[in-house]
Amino acid sequence: MPTNDVVRVGVIGSGAGEFHLKGYSEDSRAQIVAIAGLDTPRVEKLAQQYGVPDTHVEYQELLARDDIDAVSVAVPNILHMPVALAAFEAGKHVLIEKPLARNAAEGVAMVEAARAHNKVLGVSFQRRTRHDVALLKEAYQKNEFGNVYYAKAWWMRRSGIPGLGSWFTSKEAAGGGPLIDLGVHVLDMLMYVLGNPEVHSVTGTTYAEIGPTGRGGWAGTGRMKISDDQKYEVEDLASAFIRLKNGGTVLLEAAWASFTEMGDDFGIQLYGSEGGARINAKQYALVDTLEIYKNIGDTTMDAKPRLVAREGHAQVIHKFLDAILYGTEMEPSGLEGLANIRLIDAIYRSAELGREVILDDEIAQVTEQE
Ligand SMILES: NC(=O)c1ccc[n+]([C@@H]2O[C@H](COP(=O)([O-])OP(=O)(O)OC[C@H]3O[C@@H](n4cnc5c(N)ncnc54)[C@H](O)[C@@H]3O)[C@@H](O)[C@H]2O)c1
Repeated sequence: MPTNDVVRVGVIGSGAGEFHLKGYSEDSRAQIVAIAGLDTPRVEKLAQQYGVPDTHVEYQELLARDDIDAVSVAVPNILHMPVALAAFEAGKHVLIEKPLARNAAEGVAMVEAARAHNKVLGVSFQRRTRHDVALLKEAYQKNEFGNVYYAKAWWMRRSGIPGLGSWFTSKEAAGGGPLIDLGVHVLDMLMYVLGNPEVHSVTGTTYAEIGPTGRGGWAGTGRMKISDDQKYEVEDLASAFIRLKNGGTVLLEAAWASFTEMGDDFGIQLYGSEGGARINAKQYALVDTLEIYKNIGDTTMDAKPRLVAREGHAQVIHKFLDAILYGTEMEPSGLEGLANIRLIDAIYRSAELGREVILDDEIAQVTEQE
């Protein structure tokens, strides 16, 4: 049990795990007890940097400790479910990196385990804590755009396939390519703004025209070597058309590599009967990204609100600690992560089948398989 309003935490994974270390180190209600990771030099370096007393290699060692109340899990997607289930079994709260899991079935198991053990399950969709997203959500809730009948969410890279031959380009280890890596973030931003509308159906397509040829790595890194050991098994571009039950539609795009203007840009856009808005985060920009489109009198009026830069993971961690200590609702929740991965899963299925997939049918199928 957390004592004296302090939560004792462990961090598993030393890549994105560092964002968690930074977040916890900035919140006086957290005490970082240990880090785990297979890559010992990187783990040791982080332990030194953040003053963490203990390090471990395998995640099981960290979970076996009884002086840890909660864990952040930043490991390859294939390990999200097994690590989370083991953590709940060991009585820990879990903050999992995005995506919740590789697919809906794994996500369901995680949400059910959290419920069964009465523990908090949160998902690191930190981009929803951006200032532009908060303002857009507030404006949407105040009905400033009227009926929002169409929306877009995109994350398009010219060239930036993460580590070829690493777990990122393995279908088994990652569950997919840019759709499950980048698409999940912008889908979360959009669904969060729209108040998690129910989805009727999806039509998805995936392509792999660049990655399998060894091109599309980070700009300037040269052609990647493709071999039996270094495979490219996932898409490099995905797009989806999503029909909402309220009649609205969404266009989602995600690419690690595509012939477009140079950039690593993401955003969302709303089209409503009384107004619209776009967040266009070029190169991860945090400010100067939001534009609001309205009419005044008989002419158009665009506004560009002044924004402040916010540290995403720190805010998610703040909410996670609140949920553990005071029983407040965790946001982004495991259930939101599940809704997100259900959609991603259905989009991949639609791409495979070459036809539209109805979400309620997919949910029934996952339930049947359990
Ligand atoms: N929210 C974000 O913006 C963001 C950014 C990057 C990555 N991520 C997510 O974080 C997760 C990890 O991605 P990454 O880029 O850090 O990958 P990475 O390959 O850099 O790091 C993975 C870490 O997991 C550790 N690991 C693997 N197996 C382990 C085991 N059995 N026991 C203990 N540790 C183990 C590795 O040692 C390594 O430290 C992924 O789910 C990814 O989607 C999120």
